Amino acid sequence: KLTLDLTKPGVTVSRQLYGLMTEEINHSYDGGLYGELIRNRVFKDNAKTPEAWSVLQEGNSSAAIHLVAGDPDNVPMDQRGHAINSALTTCLKLVVETDGGRAGIANEGYWGIPVKPNTTYKASFYIKGLGSTPPRRRPDGSTLTPNSPVIENNTPGPITVSIESSDGKTVYASGIITLIKSNFWKKYELQLTTASDIKPTADARFVISTNRKGIYYFNLVSLFPPTYNNRANGNRIDIMKLMADMKPAFLRFPGGNFLEGPKLTDAFPWKITLGPLESRPGHKGSWGYHATDGMGLLEFLEWCEDIKMEPLLAVYAGYSLDGDHVDAGPLLKPYIEDALNEIEYITGDIHTYWGAKRAADGHPAPFKLRYVEIGNEDGFDASGSYDGRFAQFNDAIKAKYPALKCIATIGGRDFLGVRGKLTIRKPEIVDEHYYRNAWEMEEDAAHYDNYDRKGFKVFVGEWATREGAPTTNLNAALGDAAWMTGMERNSDLVILSCYAPLFVNVNKATSTAPKAWQWDSDLIGYNALTSFGSPSYYVQKIFSNYIGNKVVPLTGANIPTQTRPATKKDSADKKMPQPIPGMFYVATKDTKTGKIFLKVVNATGKPQQVDIELNGATTLSPEGTIVVIKGDKPEDTNTIDDPEKIVPVTSAVKGLGKKFTRTFDPYSVSVLQINTI
Ligand code: AHR
Repeated sequence: KLTLDLTKPGVTVSRQLYGLMTEEINHSYDGGLYGELIRNRVFKDNAKTPEAWSVLQEGNSSAAIHLVAGDPDNVPMDQRGHAINSALTTCLKLVVETDGGRAGIANEGYWGIPVKPNTTYKASFYIKGLGSTPPRRRPDGSTLTPNSPVIENNTPGPITVSIESSDGKTVYASGIITLIKSNFWKKYELQLTTASDIKPTADARFVISTNRKGIYYFNLVSLFPPTYNNRANGNRIDIMKLMADMKPAFLRFPGGNFLEGPKLTDAFPWKITLGPLESRPGHKGSWGYHATDGMGLLEFLEWCEDIKMEPLLAVYAGYSLDGDHVDAGPLLKPYIEDALNEIEYITGDIHTYWGAKRAADGHPAPFKLRYVEIGNEDGFDASGSYDGRFAQFNDAIKAKYPALKCIATIGGRDFLGVRGKLTIRKPEIVDEHYYRNAWEMEEDAAHYDNYDRKGFKVFVGEWATREGAPTTNLNAALGDAAWMTGMERNSDLVILSCYAPLFVNVNKATSTAPKAWQWDSDLIGYNALTSFGSPSYYVQKIFSNYIGNKVVPLTGANIPTQTRPATKKDSADKKMPQPIPGMFYVATKDTKTGKIFLKVVNATGKPQQVDIELNGATTLSPEGTIVVIKGDKPEDTNTIDDPEKIVPVTSAVKGLGKKFTRTFDPYSVSVLQINTI
């Protein structure tokens, strides 16, 4: 029996309880959400070889490509002439030695180029007309440069740009630009439109080709499909829709490890992620591949704007993944200044220095910001420097922005929190991270029930039930749902939460492209063409969509136990207590509409009958609805080929009253919506 006590006022539900966490991992942006289809567009992914690019030689033509690379300080003078600016220092050189057929460059995209019918793509690229200008000479005739550059000609005339099948046999869309003779870099732009009768495919490549001999230099080669809200430099529509459907309250960005970088010098470089793509060199990233930074600070904010989320900014706090850190004190000051400037870029009006910069970048209106996280997972900092670093950041941020709430990354009850103590400043909010298997989540679902209410509020800034790869399975979704009943019931304390990681490109390694993901157990999966939500995604979606503003206290739940072993032994070294609870509940009420949302998780393999009583209900409709996510076995999952095996199903319910009985399916998560007045 389960009694919902409507006579007692429950705690207020945080309006920011369910949000999103994001970082560049698993090709979340490049090869993921960010619309760009050309991989390695500025040729910085690999210093030795033009990854993702190949030379095209057809008929009697012969051609070769290679990188002309290096930063301005380290390459010979004659090569520096090929840099467009200090960001775009590496370019691709195509030498067409013999004509007599098509010759050019081809890009394989991020595991293919998605081709869809009736679609217009925006292509753009820089080509240099001449290899280099003649050497400047001193009055005595000697050259200013140590090596006299050779003048390398291309051939002005038509250049064909196409999206075609990987074998080149089918052209899906193509256009022509006329290359002019010029000593300097010139940007060319065109649109490519596919026909209405083609079948969607990702087995395609992007080609720039010529029939004429010559030497051609390329840089910033870009191809964009239509984007969400038609934003220039925008995001993939399907993935944005999946997120919008979750109705997330906030976005934690830019990481995660991606905020920190391996070394101090690799931290998220927000300043060089701003402005035109021409000024974005990208940076090392934290997950083994170069980040283009096409998804820059303003793009994160516009992503928030597009799906009505609040930004939750994590600022770099002087500690990086390899253990590099800066102690509190004068050396930390520039990092604090940098964070204050970043906050000004987001929130400052156009009369502030950075607010004006944001306006110049195309967004005069400031963004609303309430939460700033200082660092990420600083419990890993064995030096213990975070106590001082947090205090210094906190004080400086509060002095300039008193309304901002600073989030600390240690001090909570998670495995990181207990590694260090904050003694100098007491944080208002602490970020806790939980990565566990289903068994651990279910066993600890009441984690927050007896948490200290006098101290800080909790932000569960990263958490997931880690079962299934690359996206999680039903067993994970059951663990997630159990854990979420605990967060929701305690959302006076847990005011913010977000699952991690959010995205994964599900492609496996090919001969030319490395494996797309670094982290198993992700929420949303995709390839170049389509995307899907894991069972965990659907749990997030229904928990966030069906929620009231007050928790309804529950009593008397008769909770069956379970002894089902976890399907994945993330904690092989830990003895799993047996048995543990098998059912989990939380109820909230929308006091405006009178709707009650009763969430019930049946993690057992048996149907479970529950007698439900609504104590204190006055008028109650016999009709309601129920949304159910379920499967036949815990290992059931969604995949790119079977994306909707497990999805919520909504049906009408009759016979509701002050007392009623309901049977909950095995391995299911249900939201029962009861209408009271
Ligand atoms: O979510 C994946 C990683 O897990 C995050 O980057 C990091 O903060 C945590 O260790």
